[in-house]
Amino acid sequence: MFYKNCKPFPNNFLWGASTSAYQVEGAYDEDGKGLSIQDLHHPKDIADFKVASDHYHHMKEDVKLMAELGLRAYRFSISWVRILPEGEGEVNEKGIAFYNELIDELIAHGIEPIVTMYHFDLPLALHEKGGWNNRDTIKAFEVYAEILFKSYGDRVKYWLTINEQNVMINHPNAMNPGKNPSKKELYQQCHNMFVASAKAIKLCHQLVPNGKIGPAPNITAIYPEKCNPADVIASDNWESLRCWLYLDMAVYGRYHSLVWSYLEEKGYTPKIEEGEMEILAEAKPDFLGVNYYATATVAAAKNDGNDCQPRNGDQQVMIGEEGVYRAAQNDYLEITEFGWMIDSIGLRVTLRRIYDRYHLPILITENGLGAKDELTSDGAIHDEYRIDYLTRHFHQAQLAITDGVDLIGYCPWSFIDLVSTHQGYRKRYGFVYVERDEKDLKRLKRIKKDSFYWYQNIIKQNGIEE
Ligand code: BG6
Repeated sequence: MFYKNCKPFPNNFLWGASTSAYQVEGAYDEDGKGLSIQDLHHPKDIADFKVASDHYHHMKEDVKLMAELGLRAYRFSISWVRILPEGEGEVNEKGIAFYNELIDELIAHGIEPIVTMYHFDLPLALHEKGGWNNRDTIKAFEVYAEILFKSYGDRVKYWLTINEQNVMINHPNAMNPGKNPSKKELYQQCHNMFVASAKAIKLCHQLVPNGKIGPAPNITAIYPEKCNPADVIASDNWESLRCWLYLDMAVYGRYHSLVWSYLEEKGYTPKIEEGEMEILAEAKPDFLGVNYYATATVAAAKNDGNDCQPRNGDQQVMIGEEGVYRAAQNDYLEITEFGWMIDSIGLRVTLRRIYDRYHLPILITENGLGAKDELTSDGAIHDEYRIDYLTRHFHQAQLAITDGVDLIGYCPWSFIDLVSTHQGYRKRYGFVYVERDEKDLKRLKRIKKDSFYWYQNIIKQNGIEE
């Protein structure tokens, strides 16, 4: 659809930026923090999460930079083990105090805090007791949620339950150290996370005056390789399994029918305790957080033993599944230097599909370009590729708004450079450069990239110039 004029971004649009605790904070064993599963990660040649961007010790300086950038919102996650070092039991008051200070600092600078309660960093103590396979983890999350709402709910209005539950289920390796769960176990973990989120949503509505809460899955439109109807079935299969399972449960509190048939066919149906479906149906999110990086393209499964192609998969890589879908190429799209597709129009497609299904306000909680940024001899970082990437995506977001999508904010990944989930510090996303490399921590100095000044202007003028 072409429009003579685009609708503007709403006046109160939440121009923001995102990070997550374990990727940015560092101070992994300070002030009473317990260990999370991410702290077990010690790759040989790339950065681990021990120091990360040392945000824990640069918090005030970082918030000042957010204010200079003009951020209206900052999406960050709370480290479960900073609050509850064992995941349950004793509360660590220093952990509570750190986020109190951060939230106060944000508010003092006019920045809306948006809190993710759990971003990949399951407490190690809970993992050792079975993690999300163990129903007790649901209870532990509920208790943790209550602590967060009671501690910060007077100032934090926007909450996100679980970051990318669908990535944790579809790419489970990094989330289950020491074990390789079966698919049956994974769908039980998935169910348990659904129940935990639903309980958190209900609690938020009870405890946080005017609180708004939603999920934050990684959602993307899936394209059929050709107009061959068999390819369309395959894309529908994968879109349902990868995306709609998670949002249907969050919004309607029921299993997507096609996904349920898949679970039955494969023998993966989870055990559902009495009363859980009622809890799932009662919990109603207020908005949907959406992490969007790229679309995926798939072809019909042949069920010939080759549908699933094991490859070095990260969260954007399609693997395929016997009899369900087969990964395909999309020659219309460019790719990043890290092999992710670039599809700004796909963002518009994805937003339209989500809004059409759920009619809830949408907040883009992640989107951005991972690149090998370089600090040049003039002391700057000329990341025009990031500016180009975001310009194109912002334009498509505006078109989606013009299409009628209720988009309330956009939080690119990431505010500042941080440790990537798979490629350490060589893959940077931030508007702010951190002077360190994989192993050499250097000065950890903060340097504004060219994209910082560009985004500052976007926020000032409330959108891209037409
Ligand atoms: C999202 C995650 O999947 O993608 C983030 O929520 C992650 O934690 C981001 O950093 C970018 O992925 P990566 O692998 O490049 O760090």
